[in-house]
Amino acid sequence: VPCTIDPINMPVTVRSFAKINLGLAIGARRSDGFHDLRTVYQTVGLHDVMRIDATRGVGIEIRCKDPRVPTDETNTCWRVAERVLRSLKQRSKIIISIDKKLPVQGGIGGGSSNAIATMIGIEKVLKSNLSGQERLRIASEVGSDLPLFLIGGTVLGCGRGEEVWAMPDLPEWDVVIATPNVGVSTPDAFRRWDELVSNNGKLTDTGLSDRISVFSRSAFEWLAGVPTTGVPTKKGGDRAETLLLDLVRAGIENDFERVVFPEYPELRDVKRVLEREGADFASLSGSGSTVFGLFKARSAAEKAAERLVSGGIPAQATQLLSREQYWKQMV
Ligand code: C5P
Repeated sequence: VPCTIDPINMPVTVRSFAKINLGLAIGARRSDGFHDLRTVYQTVGLHDVMRIDATRGVGIEIRCKDPRVPTDETNTCWRVAERVLRSLKQRSKIIISIDKKLPVQGGIGGGSSNAIATMIGIEKVLKSNLSGQERLRIASEVGSDLPLFLIGGTVLGCGRGEEVWAMPDLPEWDVVIATPNVGVSTPDAFRRWDELVSNNGKLTDTGLSDRISVFSRSAFEWLAGVPTTGVPTKKGGDRAETLLLDLVRAGIENDFERVVFPEYPELRDVKRVLEREGADFASLSGSGSTVFGLFKARSAAEKAAERLVSGGIPAQATQLLSREQYWKQMV
């Protein structure tokens, strides 16, 4: 950031973590155009680094070297910043600098996470807090997968994804995040899902609402196995191992695979590579293009990531991020 900034307070640096979806069931299209859905969100260790500056003057400025990131009012960070300033009744110029490390449009919530990091950064830099309710209102107004980042760790998502419940944290499993260089549009993926449903007599509105209820039940039964001591289970333990096997047995899947894989077969290939490399569970995240694999052993995760990278697929090994670590490492 150039030294032309005339700060009114010390700038704040915020880590903006990514999420994955451990399963996602899509329900019926609602009258507001959104789809009812159920999902288990999970924050992971990959992150962008954001810096928030408050200076004299008014307005919002976004700085990012990555040309794929919009720096105008279409950026979710802008839309959140505008609402936060209005809510806090503060007049100040806010400069949002994004060091982009996460894949753009990758199904791992990069833009949404950046927006929540902006909200928290503005509160800190202006030393003024929103109420929890106000934070949630702004987040869900701007996008369906912003609110999850106000909780972090393992989160159940309902409604259009914006109704969020904190779940007991999963063990800190190793995870490989692979993001092939194809851009999957989320609205297009939902449209293709609607076409699939309209061509399938079994998937009536009742059939869809039954399916998402089954998903919620499976997810709850599976998560009921997580110890609620508040201490994340170490990944080597028997309990953690059983839990990972149970995830597969629970039949938790991502419905987007049914419309995204036929369109982008290379994403299915990445899932197969992860499974061949020993992932205990592999899936598309959101509407993609990210495909992730959960591993019991760090060495296997690292080897799988290397294998993908040598085949030209951008991939990284990291760990699931518990709620406590999410907040501890954020600012
Ligand atoms: O809420 P968000 O801005 O992330 O949604 C982007 C688009 O994805 C929406 O405009 C809508 O077309 C689609 N969507 C949907 N159902 C959801 C979430 C998103 O149809 N539950």
